[in-house]
Amino acid sequence: MPSRNTIILAAGKGTRMRSKLYKVLHRIAGETMVEHVLTQIEQTDMDHIVTVVGFGADDVRKQLGDRTQYVMQEKQLGTGHAVLQTEPLLGEEDGMTLIMSGDTPLFRAETLQKLFDYHEAKGDVATVLTSIAPDPTGYGRLIRNDIGLVEKIVEQKDASVEEAAVQEINTGVYVFDNKALFDALHQVKNTNAQGEYYLTDVIEILKQAGERVGAYRMSDFSESMGVNDRKALATATKVMRRRINEMHMTNGVTFIDPENTYIDVNVKIGSDTIIEPNVQLKGNTVIGEDCYIGANSEIRDSTIADGVTVTSSFIEDSDMATGSNIGPMSHLRPESHIGEDVHLGNFVEVKKATIGNRTKVGHLTYVGNAELGTDINVGCGVVFVNYDGVNKHDSVIGDHVFIGSNSNLVAPLNVADHSFIAAGSTITNDVAKHDMAIARARQTNKADYWAKLPHKPEDK
Ligand code: UD1
Ligand code: CA
Repeated sequence: MPSRNTIILAAGKGTRMRSKLYKVLHRIAGETMVEHVLTQIEQTDMDHIVTVVGFGADDVRKQLGDRTQYVMQEKQLGTGHAVLQTEPLLGEEDGMTLIMSGDTPLFRAETLQKLFDYHEAKGDVATVLTSIAPDPTGYGRLIRNDIGLVEKIVEQKDASVEEAAVQEINTGVYVFDNKALFDALHQVKNTNAQGEYYLTDVIEILKQAGERVGAYRMSDFSESMGVNDRKALATATKVMRRRINEMHMTNGVTFIDPENTYIDVNVKIGSDTIIEPNVQLKGNTVIGEDCYIGANSEIRDSTIADGVTVTSSFIEDSDMATGSNIGPMSHLRPESHIGEDVHLGNFVEVKKATIGNRTKVGHLTYVGNAELGTDINVGCGVVFVNYDGVNKHDSVIGDHVFIGSNSNLVAPLNVADHSFIAAGSTITNDVAKHDMAIARARQTNKADYWAKLPHKPEDK
């Protein structure tokens, strides 16, 4: 049975990025470039996926896990040399091998599938995926003969003036007959401007051996772009962002300003949700239907149920149930679980806490390490005092409790159902069901204090 194989080249350092981070680990819309490539390949039908690693090998392995096999390229002697390192794993395979780079993050599975179909239909020994670049600088050029047949690929640094003027570029994606690929790779030499073993030389070698080599030209250059520097990283991010936002709009999500809304590739959003400008939805966030996500909100790795309103707030690693709302200017820190129809108002910070259905925390409050029941009213400026300087302690507040404004609840603490805490109290002892706790000095009024003043304010 002929097999279908993929090789991903990801061993380069990416000098042009000027970064401590290896090139293929730079992120676009929340995911590393090499992972974008792998995710698309996984949607085609492959028997073997092998990634060539070198610089940052451990980090790349950690990122991709067991979704691919790996081979090590100890010295980065060029793309041809990189592919040759896979010979122990793939050299004996009969079938087709797709080669891609880890720095071309925008290719879509449909395009790769079209390339395969074209390659199979033509029956050539190799097919190069090409596109027309408005500015081909930096790419290898596809050189065709008088009647349009593929002759070779010439790299930018080795191109004559005439060759450099060609706008049809090598996208760095190819399908080869596997055996022919490895035979040709052994003939590649490094006598070129960069002293590298170019994979691209395989095309000319196959041609000269009398084999048929074809090219499949894709229509959308932007999908084929390679990311070698930060400018290209920003351009690719923009293309990816537009693609993601268009997908959500197709699915029934309203964007007030899609050009200025930043959504990571794995985020899910339900229909009829409205998203205002400058919103950032990151990581594995899931947003339900009929939500309103107001301007400048940031939501990371959180689950927001249907009908939730988020107004200019920051939510991380938390969840909000149906009909709840938050903001403006509030913050859910990790492990906050917000119940149905809960209201969290202005300047409220919640951390590692559960808040029961219909509870209201309207203003200027910190809730940390706490479990709040249902139908509670938390007044303005309440502090859950959860930290004694060494350890964190928990508070448990029952259902239907009324917590007066400007109270401190010093944990560990249990406040039972239907109890009351008077405004301005510092509560250090548990409160029983139906009781009211007051913990503040009684007010005393000093009668006719004015008379005791040595200088009256109006004397000044
Ligand atoms: C390469 C192509 C060029 C094409 C362009 C498309 C070659 C010689 N040139 O150029 O024709 O237009 O991609 O984007 O193939 N890598 C290794 N080991 C190495 C060298 C590179 O694994 O020894 C990896 C890199 O990590 C990268 C990929 O191969 O992911 C491509 O290398 P890069 O240096 O970016 O090639 P380009 O100059 O972009
Ligand atoms: Ca590149």
